[in-house]
Amino acid sequence: MRVAVLNGVNLDVLGRRDPALYGGLSLHELERRIYEWAMALDVTAQCRQTNSEGQYVDWCHDALDWAGGVVANPGAWSHYSYAIRDALELLQVPLVEVHLSNIDEREEWRRNSVIADLAAKRIVGKGPDGYREALEFLAEQRG
Ligand code: DQA
Repeated sequence: MRVAVLNGVNLDVLGRRDPALYGGLSLHELERRIYEWAMALDVTAQCRQTNSEGQYVDWCHDALDWAGGVVANPGAWSHYSYAIRDALELLQVPLVEVHLSNIDEREEWRRNSVIADLAAKRIVGKGPDGYREALEFLAEQRG
């Protein structure tokens, strides 16, 4: 099974963001863990990160051609980007929405996710382990 792991805006500076919210790992370290977890589950992960909304949309479209599941953390775009929502809505495979921090208990504006209802599963506030849980969920879905 192949899984697209799509991290969005500002996740490239993870190691420099508030560790109390996002944990202390850099994106590189997070991606390394994701690849290790994926390998243990016999899943082929492809991790990507961008600060460009159009690029993120393009990667969602690209995933339509090959991914058996998608893990998406669009960062702040989660709260307002209907463009990314429309792109993720095209998926015919399970989508897992992941947020490192618990957006349901943060500022009011973060509590709304415009992709929430598209997700087969949502994982918030579990830090990097949220990505492991997402991969485990997708691995369980394979036929
Ligand atoms: C985030 C939560 C978003 O509200 C925030 O804008 C991010 C990261 C998370 O992983 O907790 O950039 O998606």
